Amino acid sequence: MKIDFWLDKWAAGQISFHQIQENCLLLKFWPKLLPKSDETVLVPLCGKSEDLVWLASRHQEIYGVEISEIAVRDFFAGHFYTPLVTRVDSSHELYQFDELNLYRGDIFTAPLPAVDLIYDRAALTVIPQQERRPYAERLLSLLKTGGRILLITSDPAQSDEAEKIFSVQKDEIEQLFYRCKVTCLSAFSAVKPAAQSGGFPDGDVWLIEKTG
Ligand SMILES: C[S@@+](CC[C@H](N)C(=O)[O-])C[C@H]1O[C@@H](n2cnc3c(N)ncnc32)[C@H](O)[C@@H]1O
Repeated sequence: MKIDFWLDKWAAGQISFHQIQENCLLLKFWPKLLPKSDETVLVPLCGKSEDLVWLASRHQEIYGVEISEIAVRDFFAGHFYTPLVTRVDSSHELYQFDELNLYRGDIFTAPLPAVDLIYDRAALTVIPQQERRPYAERLLSLLKTGGRILLITSDPAQSDEAEKIFSVQKDEIEQLFYRCKVTCLSAFSAVKPAAQSGGFPDGDVWLIEKTG
């Protein structure tokens, strides 16, 4: 994955994927996971998403992973949170504040615990085809049996930043998450007006259940 590409985007303030409010598809479809407040949640490639705050108001333990220090610092500063920052090793720092545990580092190497639930918005879809298998394996290795993933894809056809987004279809999702039951909760269409989409419109919504 082109880590420098993302670090440069954050440094230049080119973050059209960032939404200033919670994602409406998260609010609508999170209940489909039948989430319990004591279930732990992982948000891979979390940016400085407002969704972290929404999830933290509903769950006791949230883990996020984000490669950009600018993003992680912006997130805490933007909410006037003062996190405890611990250097874990030469490649990772852990930022902690109440329910929130954000690793600044690479999703593939951050020392994450096993979790019950995963929220993936605009994460799988920015990972190039050849790295999707290891990414899906990484998520599955972190997800407990019986765990669920809410996956919100992005729609490159609707975007003015199509070079960052790679479409992902049902067959591929079923192959990537082969040990799981995959259900489409919503297809892009009736979702929301383009005016709210910015450069990174959401696509389809998937429920992925790790059955074994
Ligand atoms: C399209 S953005 C989505 C951010 C967030 N999910 C949201 O909805 O706002 C992708 C994010 O992944 C981060 N990222 C890219 N590669 C990463 C990696 N290998 N490990 C952790 N974060 C990464 C980027 O810095 C960027 O903030």
